[in-house]
Amino acid sequence: MRVDDGVKREVLARTDIGEVIGAYVTLRKRGNDLVGLCPFHGEKSPSFHVHPDRGFFKCFGCGVGGDVLTFVQKHENVGFTDALRILAKRVGVEVENEDPRAARARSERESIYHANEVARAWFHRMLLAPDGAAARAYCAGRGITEATIAAFSLGYAPAGWDGLVDELRRNDVDPGLAVTAGLLKPSQRGGFYDFYRDRLMIPTLANTGETIAFGGRALGDAEPKYLNTSTTPVYTKGRFLFALNVARRAAARDDTAIVVEGYLDCIALHQAGFANAVAALGTAFTAEQARELGRVASRAILCFDADAAGLEATLKSIDALSAEGVAAFALRIPDGKDPDEFVRRNGAEAFRSLLEKPIPATQVRIDAEIERRGPHGGGAALARWAEETIRRLAPPEEQDRWRVYAARRLGLSIDDLRRARLLLNPVHFARGSDGNASRHVVPGFGDRPSFEREVLAIALDDPALVAEYAERIPSERFASPQFRRVWEALRTHARSLVKPSDVFAVFEGDDDAAATLASVSGSVRLADADDRRAKLDRVVARFARDDAERRYRELDEEMTQLVDADRPVPDALRAEHVALAVQLKKG
Ligand code: UTP
Ligand code: MN
Repeated sequence: MRVDDGVKREVLARTDIGEVIGAYVTLRKRGNDLVGLCPFHGEKSPSFHVHPDRGFFKCFGCGVGGDVLTFVQKHENVGFTDALRILAKRVGVEVENEDPRAARARSERESIYHANEVARAWFHRMLLAPDGAAARAYCAGRGITEATIAAFSLGYAPAGWDGLVDELRRNDVDPGLAVTAGLLKPSQRGGFYDFYRDRLMIPTLANTGETIAFGGRALGDAEPKYLNTSTTPVYTKGRFLFALNVARRAAARDDTAIVVEGYLDCIALHQAGFANAVAALGTAFTAEQARELGRVASRAILCFDADAAGLEATLKSIDALSAEGVAAFALRIPDGKDPDEFVRRNGAEAFRSLLEKPIPATQVRIDAEIERRGPHGGGAALARWAEETIRRLAPPEEQDRWRVYAARRLGLSIDDLRRARLLLNPVHFARGSDGNASRHVVPGFGDRPSFEREVLAIALDDPALVAEYAERIPSERFASPQFRRVWEALRTHARSLVKPSDVFAVFEGDDDAAATLASVSGSVRLADADDRRAKLDRVVARFARDDAERRYRELDEEMTQLVDADRPVPDALRAEHVALAVQLKKG
């Protein structure tokens, strides 16, 4: 169909491109431009620019650009004519209602929007009509106010079988199309009947205002509790968020969206003043929903039911949101209530204080996993899991904080956690013949106890031992320069050292060294020379262990870099790493 150029010009002249695109993309003003996250490719920093005064948009990330018609075509996945029609409707320009073929030429999507719109308006009228009394009472019983009924355009599908059939007919909606839209069902006798009967109707609107789906709640205990629009040409469950059209402004302002499971949870939160609430509608977040949400806010607070299914949905949602760069948090609602019940019983302030301390995704994950396996149920595998989770979910600058948290909960050192990832990842380690990759567990190394004081104290008590250990305890092992200097001098004079006064004689006139010796004197109490030898032998053994440990850390670092760069770990490196791990474990 040809559209008159004059119509296009008029539509473009009346359309504010910033406003149109702003309905889909959260835009912030930067100079003369509006800037936001490109809706056509996944990105985390905004490179999508709209130039309102020049009437075009351009993404510097993926290169897409054009005028407002191009935008609508791409975003709505429609052709030029439909895009023009969508815009024309916004600004009240008639495109072609004089053309009798026009109705047929309308896209199926447009027709479904129209059918849904007719249904939404009728359901809403029916709720306010005498027949809607029971449904109004149901709303009242749930604390839903008249203002909320209006704001969410709630409705009532009457109990009869053909009320909507008739209403659609009156509005020239083709019943076959209404079946496609999920509003009617074909009957055995070749006619049609209403799909929703005697239900409270909750419409889902697209961000651009079209009614795309319905949820119908039974007023009593009828099964199923909710009857929903399944997949239609304009709606796919899992692609939209309920109430995002209402919540997007508040969510953008707070840079946070509250995500709940149910329609009525969401509606109750809005009524209680939480204008940034959306609902995932009984599903865990999908990637598409996460992307939708990510366009509006960079934080999501998940507020799902406090049951096993709710936790499962929370965990899945965390992953979906994190993958889209949205920081996820969760709320634990006390007493197993859902958000609707919670605000109704405890009030908005109580919910607001829950919102003040949302649980970060990483903590939700760690807590849930420990809960699942028990604190001692996972051992090294749990440590590896925790380390990988922290790397995946926590921002780099926060990872150490979460290592501290996880290590404490698992009763491990932070080093153990870090190492667990390298040691236990079967991708980087050949599994043992028992198939158990978790056998190379390395104990925590802890802080290196100072041996320096002990060595000098023993030298003072039994100077003859200096000669015996001079070779095995090299001065370089001493970290403290002062202690090292004293030990070095003692080693040099080892042959002349017999009694304690010989030691002080070495440092004649060296007040610093004398003070150091005085400070260590008596700090080790050992019965005889054999006990002292045993002590020094342990110090020497410790050096070997320190060496192994240092080498182990070096290898660790090297392997971490390879793993992080997705490069293979050479066999020799891995073998040495494993051997050291085994040695260190024994030692
Ligand atoms: P819930 O069973 O948790 O119900 O389902 P709810 O939201 O608390 O509903 P009320 O308060 O009893 O009215 C959560 C969501 O899962 C979807 C709906 O979207 C619902 O809001 N659901 C649930 C269905 O689609 N069908 C069902 O039969 C039940
Ligand atoms: Mn509920």
